[in-house]
Formats: sequence, C-alpha cells, structure tokens
Amino acid sequence: MHKILISDKLGQAGLDLLETLDGVSYEMKTGLSKDELIAIMPEYDGLIIRSGTSPDADIIAAGTNLKVIGRAGIGVDNIDLAAATKHGVKVVNTPRANSIATAEQTLALMLTINRFTAHSHGSVAAGNWNRGDYVGTELHSKTLGVIGFGYIGRLVTARAQAFGMKVVAYDPYVTAEAAAELDVQLLSLDDLLASADIFTLHAIVTDETKEMINSDTINKMKDGAMIINVARGKLINENDLAVALTSGKLAAAGLDVFYSEPPEGSPLIGLPNVTHTPHLGASSKEAQAAVGIQIVEQVVKTLNGETPDFWVNK
Ligand code: MLT
Repeated sequence: MHKILISDKLGQAGLDLLETLDGVSYEMKTGLSKDELIAIMPEYDGLIIRSGTSPDADIIAAGTNLKVIGRAGIGVDNIDLAAATKHGVKVVNTPRANSIATAEQTLALMLTINRFTAHSHGSVAAGNWNRGDYVGTELHSKTLGVIGFGYIGRLVTARAQAFGMKVVAYDPYVTAEAAAELDVQLLSLDDLLASADIFTLHAIVTDETKEMINSDTINKMKDGAMIINVARGKLINENDLAVALTSGKLAAAGLDVFYSEPPEGSPLIGLPNVTHTPHLGASSKEAQAAVGIQIVEQVVKTLNGETPDFWVNK
C-alpha cells in the first residue's frame, strides 16, 4: 500500500479520485510546520503540495520512503529540485491544468486597473457616487507586451487580441516565426519595453529573470505604462516598482503574486494605483478540479513504477 501525504488543500475531485484507487491511501494534513513535516515524512511514499508547502533539503532528506513529490500546479520554485534529484525523488506537476484560470485572472486584472473596477466598487460600498473619479482607459488599440511567451502567455494573447489589442512578446526561447503564426511580433527586451502600453509577466523565476522588472527596465518603459503580474512576485523588484508607481512613471499595476507571500511589509500593498489579489491565478473551480485529478494521476502513476507524463526533474 502506497501512502500519500497531502500537505496543502487539494481540490475535492482529486480526493474523490484517490478514494477510488486500489493500493494507495492518503492523509490530508495542512498547515504543518517544517518540524512537524520532518517528523512524519518517513511514513509516506508520496507528497502532494500546492504553494503552501516548501519541501527543502531537510524535508526531502527526512522522507526516507519518499518516491515522488506532486506539485498541484505549475510553479516548482517552492521545491528544492536538486535535493529531490539527489535523493531519487521524482517531482511531477500539472503544467496545463490551471492555465486558462491564470490567463483569465490576467485579463481580469488588466480590465480592473484600466477601469478602476476594484476602487470604484469600494467607493460605492462606502456610500459614494463619484463617477467622474473613475474615467478609465480602453484596452482596444493598446499594445500588450507579453514577457514569457509560453502556454499561458499565448492564452493571454488570444484573449487580448479579442479585445482589439496589438500584442508584442519577449521570450528568448521562442522563434519569431512561432510568434508570427499567432500574429505576435517577437521583440528584444529593450524594444518591447519601449513599445508596450501594458506589460504582463508569464515567465518562471530563474537567475536570468529574477527581478527583471527593476528601475533600469522600468525607466525604458513609456511613461504611464501598466504592469500585470500573475506569474511570480520575484520577477519584480518591489521597491523599484513602488517608486515608479508613486512618482507617476507607471500608471498602475495589477498584482496577484508577491516577492514573499503573504506580502508582509511589501511597499506595494495599499498603493492607490495598485489592485492586488492573494495569488488567485489558479483559483477557479474548474482549474482546481483539473489540477487535483491530474496530480493524483501523476503521483499514483509514479508510485506504480510507471514514467510520469510531467516529470520536472527528469
Ligand atoms: C501555479 O504555479 O500553478 C500557480 O501559481 C498556482 C498555485 O501556486 O497554486
């Protein structure tokens, strides 16, 4: 019998699937401290997490029976991949299951910062009726700069194009031809920074991309540009962004992710031209069901000795 620990909240559809499977049992224990996790790790063959648990080298080493870590979602930046590989632990994820939810959240924030939806809602709820304070801007005819032209960047592109936006992209791992097929011009980072009205980030955090939005790159943007980040907070130097939003260099930002989460002490929280949400990119019912089912399938497949489809540290 393979035993799986689920240490973050998982969609019910995934739990329902686990109930139907022979040869596996699971326990869901959320909110564990690192020490609590280390103490129980030897009991389990598999670990399923979202972003709330960060299996580091100590936790992975404590998993003396651990064979697989399943990340219900895309980003594996909360897992020590080198330690997992060293201990022969396979890391699997669900790369596509929550992409539509993330693309839709990107558009939701883009519309919100352009039409003051969140701020005007708060104003009406407080008893005001200040229509003149909330004259927005249209997405139509604006240029969207997509940084990271992978699967989610392309889903955002299609939706932005439906709003009549022109889309340009920066991604050193994509060819100009592949972008052109989607009616997108691939640009150098500097050219993209100079040409877009709104930027949206869809990159992973690497040494190359960490804090790629900083005072240098912001200074190359048009005055009054806007930034959406539904990818990872560490792509942005938060102090530099806060300075640009406060000085008026940038008009607004829509932020779903933060350098550390929850974002205690972030200079961005509460700025009048920021709309922030608590890492909700993947939080649709559909995405959570799909992610739950897919991660259970991947983890159980691995425990049964089969090769997983989405094996991150292969
Ligand atoms: C992901 O990486 O899949 C998203 O950020 C969602 C999440 O962390 O749950």
